[in-house]
Amino acid sequence: MILSIESVSKEFDAQAGKIKVLDEISIQIKAGEFVCLVGPSGCGKTTLLNIIAGLERSTGGQLHQNGKEITEPGSDRVVIFQEAALFPWLNVIQNVEFGLINRMEAKKRRKIARALLHLVHLGRFEKAYIHQLSGGMKSRVAIARALALNPSILLMDEPFAALDAQTRDILHEEIQAIWAQSKQTIIFVTHNVREAVRLGNRVFVFTARPGKIKKEFRIDLPRPRDINSEGVVMYAKLIQQELREEIEKFLKEEVDREWSLKKTDLLRPAGTDLGSGI
Ligand SMILES: Nc1ncnc2c1ncn2[C@@H]1O[C@H](COP(=O)(O)OP(=O)(O)O)[C@@H](O)[C@H]1O
Ligand SMILES: [Mg+2]
Repeated sequence: MILSIESVSKEFDAQAGKIKVLDEISIQIKAGEFVCLVGPSGCGKTTLLNIIAGLERSTGGQLHQNGKEITEPGSDRVVIFQEAALFPWLNVIQNVEFGLINRMEAKKRRKIARALLHLVHLGRFEKAYIHQLSGGMKSRVAIARALALNPSILLMDEPFAALDAQTRDILHEEIQAIWAQSKQTIIFVTHNVREAVRLGNRVFVFTARPGKIKKEFRIDLPRPRDINSEGVVMYAKLIQQELREEIEKFLKEEVDREWSLKKTDLLRPAGTDLGSGI
């Protein structure tokens, strides 16, 4: 067992009181698994990744990594965000080396960074600056930078959401190859159901907020998987059905909220809008 998430809940303090975002999430993840999380917007997926990363504390339940309670960030759990937060003033290889600066001498750092840039097919771009790269290349740099820390758990928060379908397809192949080679544990959040099925050993569907686990799917398809293969499409349909109900709930809540805001507006006595200047 590498990661044990035990009845984890999270409440945030908001103006209108507390909001419950995660409700008793329990997941056991083994070393080397590729786990995908899907769920409607706002159901707490990013919050859960932040809690696993140690960037945020849960308000209920516990998390253990190899038997040790997670209470703070650690370089063995690294998050890759959708907006790959790379440093524009550093070139590609310097970005990849960044996390290693206090850990080893410069020569060794460079060697590791270079090997990783080859792994993500950016060997020829080590001197380029971030603004010179395409979206897919930026994602690759972010992956190489995370891998440089050699984390046992890689947390990926919709990392390919902003990419075009062709680039995403290539990165799916690459991340599967890297995962097969590195044996890292990956927890991957996406709203793209086919992406989840293509990549995951298991896919967890979350309910609308507060996020609970609605259903777990074990994806027993051979790899590498094609996103348009019959098996992927079949699983994606099943998952989509589960998800659809939750997305409808989320949308209804949004519409109700909008409507109650409008109602308050309509009920406000005339002349109370101090900002209108009339
Ligand atoms: N720091 C915070 N303070 C208050 N509310 C927050 C905070 N972070 C997230 N939330 C709320 O928690 C809910 C879940 O957010 P998030 O985890 O980002 O959802 P997801 O990634 O599934 O879209 C949202 O309603 C969001 O507004
Ligand atoms: Mg999110």
